Amino acid sequence: MKNTQTQKNLEAAFAGESMAYQRYLYFGKLARQLGNLEVAELFENTAKQETAHAFAHLDLVYASEKMTVQKLLQIAIEGELHESNYMYPEFEKTALDEAQIDAVLEFQEQALESKDHAEIFQKAAKRFKSLAFVEKHHAKKYQEALEIL
Ligand SMILES: [Fe+2]
Ligand SMILES: [Fe+2]
Repeated sequence: MKNTQTQKNLEAAFAGESMAYQRYLYFGKLARQLGNLEVAELFENTAKQETAHAFAHLDLVYASEKMTVQKLLQIAIEGELHESNYMYPEFEKTALDEAQIDAVLEFQEQALESKDHAEIFQKAAKRFKSLAFVEKHHAKKYQEALEIL
C-alpha cells in the first residue's frame, strides 16, 4: 500500500472528509447565528458522519496492528513541525507580499501554536519512552523470578 496511488487517494479522501467535518461545524455555527436552527442541526449532524468517513480512510492509512504509541506521537510531531517550520512561514511570506496583514498575523499565531503542540507531543514521547523502558525492565525481572521458581 505504501507509495501507491491508492495510498495517496486515501490521504486525499481523508483530507476532504476532514475538511467537510470542520466546514459543516462552522456552517452550523453560522446558520445558528443567522437564526436557522434546523439547518444548523443538519450541518452539525452531517459533520458527525464526515468523521466516520474520515476514520474509515484512516483505518487503512494507519493499520492499527502496525502502530505503536511512539509511532503515533512521532507522526504527530512531524506534522506539527512541518506546519510551524515550513508551511506557516511560507504562507506568512506570501501574505506579506500580498499585503494581507490579517492573514500574516493569523499565520504567525498558528505557527506558534503548532510549535507548542510539537513540544507537548515531544514531552509525551520522552515520558512514555522512559516508562516503556521501566516496564520492560520490570517484565524482565518478573520473568527471571518466574524462571527460578
Ligand atoms: Fe463524507
Ligand atoms: Fe496542531
